[in-house]
Amino acid sequence: MTHPHVEALGELAEMLGGVGLVVETARSTVEALNKLRSQPAHVIVAFQVSSTSNPFDGVGFLEASVGHAPDALRIALVSSPDEAVELDYRPAQSGTIIRLVAKPSERSRLVALVGEGMKLMNLVEEQRDLVRKLSIDQSKLQRRETLLDVVVKERTKELEESYEKLKIANRQALFGLAEAIEAKDPYTKGHCGRVAAYSLVLAKEAGYPTDGLETLEFGAFLHDIGKIGIRDAVLLKPGPLDDNEWTHMREHPVKGYDIASKIEMLHPIMPAVRNHHERWDGSGYPDKMRAEDIPLAARIVAIADAYDAMATDRPYKKALPLEECEAILSKTAGKMYDPELIQVFVTRRLGALYRDDYDALPFDDGHAALP
Ligand SMILES: [Fe+2]
Repeated sequence: MTHPHVEALGELAEMLGGVGLVVETARSTVEALNKLRSQPAHVIVAFQVSSTSNPFDGVGFLEASVGHAPDALRIALVSSPDEAVELDYRPAQSGTIIRLVAKPSERSRLVALVGEGMKLMNLVEEQRDLVRKLSIDQSKLQRRETLLDVVVKERTKELEESYEKLKIANRQALFGLAEAIEAKDPYTKGHCGRVAAYSLVLAKEAGYPTDGLETLEFGAFLHDIGKIGIRDAVLLKPGPLDDNEWTHMREHPVKGYDIASKIEMLHPIMPAVRNHHERWDGSGYPDKMRAEDIPLAARIVAIADAYDAMATDRPYKKALPLEECEAILSKTAGKMYDPELIQVFVTRRLGALYRDDYDALPFDDGHAALP
């Protein structure tokens, strides 16, 4: 509160102090600005005295106070209504200044106004604190979200990479298993890969569910995994097998099934492993399943397996030409194999893939034609 006359100032300070407010007073604008610098104020009251020998530009001071206390409520006390009107013509400055005619009868209004001003300023301050707190929380939250986002992205990437590595490792492990079978029986070299290739192309042509193709391919690849458990004397016997030897040889689907059942990632291929020697008419083994009771994957692998055996050289026989293989398959369809699948295999000439004479054809990809 500023006023050039100490008495009037004392009187008002007492009045405002009486309602519980902390009142600082100053008798000059310099003093008042200095006080404001050290002690921010909520409400600034200045007298405007223009018509005496000791004029005091209270409004000028209030305008100057904006720089020191930008949020304070500013009240100018003027001596007469005329003065208040005059002040209205002053150019608008930053910060609102409330004008109050400072007649003794208006003093109670000043007290009420200052009291309301204090309340308002406290509210403004509380609100500002709240906004500050909220914005801190929000920026913390945003930082956390960004951090979380980065962490999640990194983890997802790591997981994807690990999954890819695992998939590659799985494939390698499976191919390793297939190689283990072929290593035992060198005459079947390449057989597993070809059965997988024929099975895959037959499955695609027959409308096999797309999401099951990879499993089917693995199942075809590993259908003879049980041969690992067949004695070499039987597996590698150059001549025909006797009854006991055949019985032992026919154990390979169940042996393979037992191996696959112990490896979780091989569980989906168990039907192809166990049932690839079932026959359409129920005369196969080990479960004597018939027709569509035989798992579809096993029916597909059975055709691919039979075709590859006919279409490649074996120590005891020469490879048969494609047409002859197709004729045999067609003849035995409905007895040994799923007739609809045989129909697809034969009519679409799927056996033309991977035949032994395949490499001899003059392809563009580096294969040279044999003389
Ligand atoms: Fe087999």
